[in-house]
Amino acid sequence: MYEELENIKEKCLSCQKCTLAKSRNKVVFSGGIPNSKLMLIGEAPGYWEDQKGVPFVGKAGQLLDKILECVGLSREKDVYICNTIKCRPPENRNPLPEEKLACEEYLKAQIDILKPRIILVCGNIALNTMLPNERGITRARGKWFDGPYGSKMMPIFHPSYLLRNDSKEKGSPKWLMWQDIKEIKKEYDKLN
Ligand code: URA
Repeated sequence: MYEELENIKEKCLSCQKCTLAKSRNKVVFSGGIPNSKLMLIGEAPGYWEDQKGVPFVGKAGQLLDKILECVGLSREKDVYICNTIKCRPPENRNPLPEEKLACEEYLKAQIDILKPRIILVCGNIALNTMLPNERGITRARGKWFDGPYGSKMMPIFHPSYLLRNDSKEKGSPKWLMWQDIKEIKKEYDKLN
């Protein structure tokens, strides 16, 4: 199965299907480990991801690692990380519909090949892709949804949103994330 994934990755690394191919430095296909039961889908590469070719390595990524660590999870042993689109939009603007469309096949292949048991849908852009009928991350976060191949999907706040909202008080975004990650870990521990 990883051979299939490697073939898709190779295709993605030389993709020219949208204009982001002209401005990108590196394609960011995935991070973490493929043989994971847990997949996290983020938005799009930012500056550092584009430099290094690895998802979630900037400030938001460092916070994501801390959040995972809090419940004993890590990208080295538990999580496969990818994004809705694989190339950085200029100035980190939101991906355009045509960019999402061009990139759709790669995310679809990642899900089809890996068949994760739990999918974390990180932020509004990923929410729009995975659960287009939901009306915003604030309402959808923390709830379990039926995902592809019998998986369970939970929308969660994007770590860059948490970076802009520092309060840890009950009901704050950080506090809500803490509730969500504990619930995710509980479900992860039930998997055999
Ligand atoms: N934000 C994302 O959504 N993905 C990344 O890879 C980095 C920052």
